[in-house]
Amino acid sequence: MASQSTIYEPCRSSSNLIPLIIVVFMFHPISAAASTHISDGLKNDLFPDILKEEAVARIYELGKVSDADSYLERTFLSPGSVRAGNLISTWMADAGLTTWVDGLGNVHGRIEPPNASRKALLIGSHLDTVVDAGMFDGALGIVSAISAIKVLKVTGRLMHLRHPVEVIAFSDEEGVRFQSTFLGSAAIAGVLPVSTLQIADKSGLTVQNVLKENLLDTNEENLSLLKYEPESVLGYVEVHIEQGPVLESVGLPLAVVKGIAGQTRLKVTVRGSQGHAGTVPMSMRHDPLVAAAELIVSLENLCKNPQNFISNEGSDGHCNAFSVKSLSGSLVCTVGEISTWPSASNVIPGHVIFTVDIRTIDDIGREAIIYELSNQMHNICDRRSVSCLMERKHDANAVSCDSGLNSQLKSAAYTALKRMTGEDIGEVPVLMSGAGHDAMAMSHLTKVGMLFVRCRGGISHSPEEHVLEDDVWAAGLAIQAFLETNL
Ligand code: GLV
Ligand code: MN
Ligand code: MN
Repeated sequence: MASQSTIYEPCRSSSNLIPLIIVVFMFHPISAAASTHISDGLKNDLFPDILKEEAVARIYELGKVSDADSYLERTFLSPGSVRAGNLISTWMADAGLTTWVDGLGNVHGRIEPPNASRKALLIGSHLDTVVDAGMFDGALGIVSAISAIKVLKVTGRLMHLRHPVEVIAFSDEEGVRFQSTFLGSAAIAGVLPVSTLQIADKSGLTVQNVLKENLLDTNEENLSLLKYEPESVLGYVEVHIEQGPVLESVGLPLAVVKGIAGQTRLKVTVRGSQGHAGTVPMSMRHDPLVAAAELIVSLENLCKNPQNFISNEGSDGHCNAFSVKSLSGSLVCTVGEISTWPSASNVIPGHVIFTVDIRTIDDIGREAIIYELSNQMHNICDRRSVSCLMERKHDANAVSCDSGLNSQLKSAAYTALKRMTGEDIGEVPVLMSGAGHDAMAMSHLTKVGMLFVRCRGGISHSPEEHVLEDDVWAAGLAIQAFLETNL
């Protein structure tokens, strides 16, 4: 059987390359117990009731809103996601925001102070989760933004802001249901292709069917109405758990994000000859599962040692737009989902489908990896006489965060940590993000800035995900300081 795949050219021009940098400046580690040094008078100024106790309680409450009984799962517009959106909406209203749900299920809360300019600051994160998720991914950013705004409301400063502020709880960042991430934020940024509405989930329901089920009347004609005008937006800010171990290792609760790695998601379908497990001799099989296994191991080899497979010294002199060294430093590849048909112990599978998630800060390097993977797939599938199809389901280029927003976030984080500890913590660290965020989609609309919050063991996408209560507090204080100082 012939193998077949989309062909990817490795030598395209780069739009937005970020060097691999993890910049960590000098600082004094802050322990989990730092806040115990705070005097009671000072503590009251730091709104622990709103920014810590209530914020933590809300994150835990949201963590119980799930489609599954024994683990956390909320995918795009699932019943659990709708319940979570309703809950978030009540918190937004409690913070003095006017709320609504848009045509892609994003939950908005906005304050329009009387003498404010037209340009609004958008702050957000996502309300969906992965399967068997932790409760802080997405929720921490939404809750800390709402809590910081609530502090401004109770202190009477909300109406004196110079810009409108809008919190958005995005309906889809994880892309679990449709394998196409950022459905909500991409619609707002105006970069969601209309064809996305026809993508189907595993049960055959399309994005548009799911919207209709939820009484959201978005279609090919009116999708573009969800797009915000760049002139109406000041910028986008997101708080998110780090999902990695650096902050814990340096003993600090907050960091500023320099940029976000680009990513591609592929769906690979391998078709062979379905047959009887007891009767087809080994030499006569065209087993797609064994071919898939070989493909997966070859992907691991390629991504562990890209320098053994690709070179940036092309014979035509045009292939040097990426650095194999920077690619090697940031490249990660994952097969997270695999299914076989018909999936029975006494049947040689007829076909196998698996996903591939490829990330690196080097966009051209990512193309080169996909090109090489495609070549290897041809060879393996030809040798094994199975057919292979590689489909590209999602692409997002690497993103650089705005240096102006970053320096404002950095001083807000510094101020928050100084207020909490009474000490000079030195420079706030600057990190790269390997995880994807709504900020990637929002960067097509406006400048973006992000704050990372320390999480235990760097663990995320797992029920083990955990953020210290004092770090939730620090995140809220930092956003409060950012709003007060810059708006
Ligand atoms: C989202 O968490 C992603 O990076 O996949
Ligand atoms: Mn996330
Ligand atoms: Mn996530």
